[in-house]
Amino acid sequence: MKPVRSDAFVLYGVTGDLAYKKIFPALYAMVRRGGFDLPVIGVARSDWNLDQLRARLRESITRHVGKGGDLDRQALSKLEARLAFVQGDYQDAATFRALHRALGEAERPLHYLAIPPGLFATVVEGLGASGCAGRARIIVEKPFGRDLASARALNATLHRVFDERRIFRIDHYLGKEAVQNLLVFRFANTFLEPIWNNHYVRSVQVTLAERFGVAGRGRFYEEAGALRDVIQNHLLQVVGFLAMEPPALALRESISDEQVKVFRLIRPLNPRNVVRGQFRGYRDEEGVAPGSTVETFAAARLHVDSWRWEGVPFLVRSGKRLAVTATEVLVTLKRPPLLRLAAGETNYLRFRLGPDVTIAIGARVKRAGGELTSEPIELAIAHHPHGDAMDAYERLLGDALEGDPMLFARQDTVEAAWSVVEPVLGNVTPAHEYRPGSWGPPEAEALAADVGGWHRPAR
Ligand code: BG6
Repeated sequence: MKPVRSDAFVLYGVTGDLAYKKIFPALYAMVRRGGFDLPVIGVARSDWNLDQLRARLRESITRHVGKGGDLDRQALSKLEARLAFVQGDYQDAATFRALHRALGEAERPLHYLAIPPGLFATVVEGLGASGCAGRARIIVEKPFGRDLASARALNATLHRVFDERRIFRIDHYLGKEAVQNLLVFRFANTFLEPIWNNHYVRSVQVTLAERFGVAGRGRFYEEAGALRDVIQNHLLQVVGFLAMEPPALALRESISDEQVKVFRLIRPLNPRNVVRGQFRGYRDEEGVAPGSTVETFAAARLHVDSWRWEGVPFLVRSGKRLAVTATEVLVTLKRPPLLRLAAGETNYLRFRLGPDVTIAIGARVKRAGGELTSEPIELAIAHHPHGDAMDAYERLLGDALEGDPMLFARQDTVEAAWSVVEPVLGNVTPAHEYRPGSWGPPEAEALAADVGGWHRPAR
């Protein structure tokens, strides 16, 4: 039986960064498409009023649409009109009583926890005690827990109030079209399968590079660091799509089934295979401790102990204040035996996942002229200069409202991912300082030295 659609949207942390940058624009896009007309109740501790919140919504959308963009004023006013605000402390039962009143007739709200992870349990308990959880659904932002034990504890807390069908663990990389395309491109084409293994693939690299820093999120970042913020979730999900066996697409659970198998086959990280870094100046950011050793960069070399991937290094790295903003996968193939013809770069597949989206194949062709030598070219298979047609948050919010869990992380995948990174959390390796605008600390180079070095995505 198809699940029933939610009838209200409650956003905790409505005055925060995530609401401003991602969730408001996603709601606006849904209103524009004509797929959203629910009440939106913002909840926050900040002492704001509804007018201030509406102004914030307008600012978020105007900024998101950008100069010269086509602002749909009607959609924006519709969304503004749907907005309500409940101000209060999450520890205080009165906040949830006020929320209960604001929900009015709504019986199946979707609650979205866009708040610091330390507050998740308090809000969940508040929802349970106030009767706001009954037939509701809940979206929990990543990172889900701080390590394996806390992820299990959080899961237990959620289950005291919500059953599994109503829990949506969000990892917005799962909602990105370009990430889903890794799966489609791999399994909708025959030509890739014969070479997609350790006989032909030399290495796989995933880079999530960002030119910007922690952008006002110093306090959050101090709790997270790159390993918890993006490696344990976004980058491992990408590795999962690249390394998985074909899922039974007819079964909605099968993508998570295949992801969890990959994560369980990845050896838990060893400090020797991880390099952490911190950009110079991070300690001066607001909310950051003067002696902080939190990493703003992490690089890791993963071993996937499977029949298909034995011996192929999977290299992942991410950092703030790097040379470019780009997320890219490079799958490099082994060299052909005729080295005289193929000196230089070998064949590769390049998947650019953001900000623009590209799939390309690196090949070699004869260099024009008298010599029998080759030169590299790149064949573009797909190129979308403006990125995904639908933003990941829009897609995922729409799915959660409909009760569709397919693109959300499952508890077993979350736990298996924590098991991979757990041995290297904290200060088990030093956080090397790096220059803003660089590619991270030079110490990371050694991890990729035997496969020709790290791939550097272009601007
Ligand atoms: C978020 C992290 O989950 O993902 C951020 O908290 C990071 O630190 C962001 O910047 C990257 O997402 P995207 O979609 O811009 O690649």
